[in-house]
Amino acid sequence: MAPLSTFLFFFFVVVVFVSPLSYGYDPLDPNGNITITWDFLADNGDTYDVRVSIHNWQLYRHVEKPGWRLSWAWRGDEVVWSMSGAEATEQGNCSRFKGQNKPHCCEKQPTIIDLMPGTPYNKQVLNCCKQGILSSLTQDPLQITSMFQMNFNRPSVPNTNNLTMPTNFSLGIPGYSCSDPFQVPPSKFTTDGRRWTQVLETWNVTCIYSQFLSSSAPKCCVSLSAFYSDTIVPCPKCSCNCQGLPGAYCVNSSSDKTPSLLKLPQDDSTQETQPVVRCSQHMCPIRIHWHVKQSYTKYWRVKITITNYNFVKNYSQWNLVLLHPNLQSLTQVFSFNYHPLGIFGEINDTVMFWGIKYYNDMLLTHGENGNVQTEMLLHKDDGIFTFNGGWGFPRTVLFNGDECVMPSPDNYPTLPNSAYVPSSSFWLFLSFILSIFL
Ligand SMILES: *[C@@H]1O[C@H](CO)[C@@H](O)[C@H](O)[C@H]1NC(C)=O
Ligand SMILES: *[C@@H]1O[C@H](CO)[C@@H](O)[C@H](O)[C@H]1NC(C)=O
Ligand SMILES: *[C@@H]1O[C@H](CO)[C@@H](O)[C@H](O)[C@H]1NC(C)=O
Ligand SMILES: *[C@@H]1O[C@H](CO)[C@@H](O)[C@H](O)[C@H]1NC(C)=O
Ligand SMILES: *[C@@H]1O[C@H](CO)[C@@H](O)[C@H](O)[C@H]1NC(C)=O
Ligand SMILES: *[C@@H]1O[C@H](CO)[C@@H](O)[C@H](O)[C@H]1NC(C)=O
Ligand SMILES: *[C@@H]1O[C@H](CO)[C@@H](O)[C@H](O)[C@H]1NC(C)=O
Ligand SMILES: *[C@@H]1O[C@H](CO)[C@@H](O)[C@H](O)[C@H]1NC(C)=O
Repeated sequence: MAPLSTFLFFFFVVVVFVSPLSYGYDPLDPNGNITITWDFLADNGDTYDVRVSIHNWQLYRHVEKPGWRLSWAWRGDEVVWSMSGAEATEQGNCSRFKGQNKPHCCEKQPTIIDLMPGTPYNKQVLNCCKQGILSSLTQDPLQITSMFQMNFNRPSVPNTNNLTMPTNFSLGIPGYSCSDPFQVPPSKFTTDGRRWTQVLETWNVTCIYSQFLSSSAPKCCVSLSAFYSDTIVPCPKCSCNCQGLPGAYCVNSSSDKTPSLLKLPQDDSTQETQPVVRCSQHMCPIRIHWHVKQSYTKYWRVKITITNYNFVKNYSQWNLVLLHPNLQSLTQVFSFNYHPLGIFGEINDTVMFWGIKYYNDMLLTHGENGNVQTEMLLHKDDGIFTFNGGWGFPRTVLFNGDECVMPSPDNYPTLPNSAYVPSSSFWLFLSFILSIFL
């Protein structure tokens, strides 16, 4: 069966690859990007003072633990003499500098990480020390920026007084690719709103996310049910991976406890941990269940459950983006925060949801009974509302900015009186046949 299951997995990968969100251009957040801004504050003759800021201008994607790991490549023999608000992971080879006073970092391609919260004040700068975590624009616009300052030497290239920018910027977060630096008008600052000072030069780098660059396999899947049907449509088989494929590691747990053999990551770890998922036919770390719960005269009620199948990750500040035509008449949401994304002005059929602080903003690992739930009330809009043809189910679901695998519409729960329409799709038939054997 191995070649067939490989083929099936490949088929799902292709389905994800051709989906519109995979090209780096995101129709739900067309201007979304993370901008790195490099402000030359002072030219001291032989060294420069620079402030580096990282701004997350994305509507719903955030940067979670282990945070950003910013790196670049110096063009010459620059070294970082000092840094505050962040630190280089490696000092590197500083043996060419004699004496006690060694630079902070002599690497040709330094990697910079944010400091932990609670760092002593004398090492802090404004907007620093958040472990590299950035909120999204919708969730918390006051927490979208990280900053640090550094002092580095002028490269010893003869006959040039120009400020030199490094190249090859990277955020160290899977899925992002960054542009070359480009010069922009100098940043301006004011303390009293009356007088403005400006920096010597400002350069920007824009970094854009692509789900396909991040990982060729999806990270979440959707299952569906409705009060009017006995059918519970599970996540498609092999949504994220297939049990039995090489590299498809999963854990069977009879009890609800985290298997003791797993090594849990340290809280201050700076590396992304590979998911360790509970064995399931979908093999996704996250499952979203959409249940059409009730119908009233003027309203209908949907229950949404997010379940964490990953044993080694608590999802902090998780978020969910849903697209459904009736979300324009969202009337009430219980126990989640929400905000319409309203990207196309009038048509607000896309809504972002996230947890309530200290209540359910942390989606715990499965071992800790990991799920969060909400119910929402939607007004039945005249002319568009119907339970027919699977209309009551979401069009697109994203968890933490990644698109989730949906069941095929042919399998959606149907109203009891509507005739059963057999699937005409060859591919679904094939998946079904395979699913019997796998
Ligand atoms: C990056 O985001 C900013 C703020 O939304 C926007 O003004 C800018 O055009 C974006 N840049 C790119 C390259 O998309
Ligand atoms: C440069 O980046 C800053 C901070 O993100 C942003 O405010 C500014 O609009 C950017 N400038 C250009 C021309 O992209
Ligand atoms: C460190 O750099 C010096 C030259 O600056 C070089 O001679 C030496 O071999 C390097 N040491 C290591 C361990 O790479
Ligand atoms: C210095 O900058 C100017 C203007 O940007 C440019 O024309 C010139 O080529 C630069 N010189 C060097 C040596 O990079
Ligand atoms: C930047 O990356 C490119 C491609 O990886 C490489 O060819 C180039 O040498 C790098 N530049 C520097 C200054 O390291
Ligand atoms: C998990 O259990 C299923 C069914 O009991 C079995 O087929 C599968 O091989 C098990 N997987 C692992 C990794 O133990
Ligand atoms: C998740 O959070 C719970 C409760 O705070 C904690 O006991 C557990 O160790 C955490 N797990 C991971 C993988 O961080
Ligand atoms: C969607 O937009 C309509 C009209 O612009 C507005 O009346 C409605 O309150 C909005 N819905 C939500 C959930 O914000």
